Amino acid sequence: MREATAIAHPNIALVKYWGKRDLRLNLPAVPSLSLTLGGYRTRTTVTWGTSRDEIVLNGLMGDDPKVRRVLDLVAPGRPGVRVESDNDFPTGAGLASSASGFAALVVAAAAAAGRALSVDALSALARRGSGSACRSLFGGFVQWPLGTEPDGSDSVGVPIAPADHWDVRLLVAVVSEARKDVGSTEGMTRSQETSPYWPTWVAMGPGLVDRAREAVLARDLAALGEAMETSTFAMHATMHTAVPPLLYWQPATVAALHAVFALRRDGVAAYATMDAGPQVKVLCAAADAERVRAALVPHVLRVDVHAPGGPARLVP
Ligand code: DP6
Repeated sequence: MREATAIAHPNIALVKYWGKRDLRLNLPAVPSLSLTLGGYRTRTTVTWGTSRDEIVLNGLMGDDPKVRRVLDLVAPGRPGVRVESDNDFPTGAGLASSASGFAALVVAAAAAAGRALSVDALSALARRGSGSACRSLFGGFVQWPLGTEPDGSDSVGVPIAPADHWDVRLLVAVVSEARKDVGSTEGMTRSQETSPYWPTWVAMGPGLVDRAREAVLARDLAALGEAMETSTFAMHATMHTAVPPLLYWQPATVAALHAVFALRRDGVAAYATMDAGPQVKVLCAAADAERVRAALVPHVLRVDVHAPGGPARLVP
């Protein structure tokens, strides 16, 4: 039996992944761009060669067949495997737990299996578990391109700037820690199949990622913030116009958004994004983080402040 432990951080998409062009390979309908968070983490230990599979997760992946499928892909014909994983943040509430979960899983599983896989191969494996996980293999700012290879091997995370490139903060305003009713995969399918805005959303993706990448490289917060908010609200428009509608927002979500817009009117460069959940995430310069936090606190359960985080990695 061999054992390996890895940690990985969640990432928050600044330009969103929402929709799939290939369900089996989990290839995206749009390219995306993310920031890996320094604060939260998933820690996963994999023991390779047990008599049967034993999966102990505090998370979203509970009895998720995707965990077994990803393990099968790491080493076809594998033996029994024990997986033990924990998150230090709420699971399944729109805080990207599946991203750090599958990133940590593939890094630990490949090491425990004695397979020396490239980071691109690990990113592609993580993608098969959850699309956004392919970005959590890397730290800092990460792009996930559409790719052109039929097997999806080039639709993997691509680091565009490391964590220390830019001293920004991403604040997570936690509105609710409850699990969401409709998961990302189901939500995407519903948007894709029923929203009249779907074709517009897909057409916008490449331009938004280009704008965001340029802005990251130029450290232009206003340009990045604008692309990020455009992506967020366009994605939520496909959710709101799905049949039946998908409304992940709570009243406190809207209150937090107005607080961000009020900060901007007062001259603070703060920009908002939301995922498939009620939390509001706010991007700003490190020097403004305290002021932004104070503006959000009255509206939400708690505010976590994150510096950019590093890549998924093995730990002793
Ligand atoms: C709104 O990666 O959780 O957070 O590939 O179906 O597992 P699956 O979806 P997932 O979706 C994330 C969607 C998002 C935007 C993003 O992270 O880019």
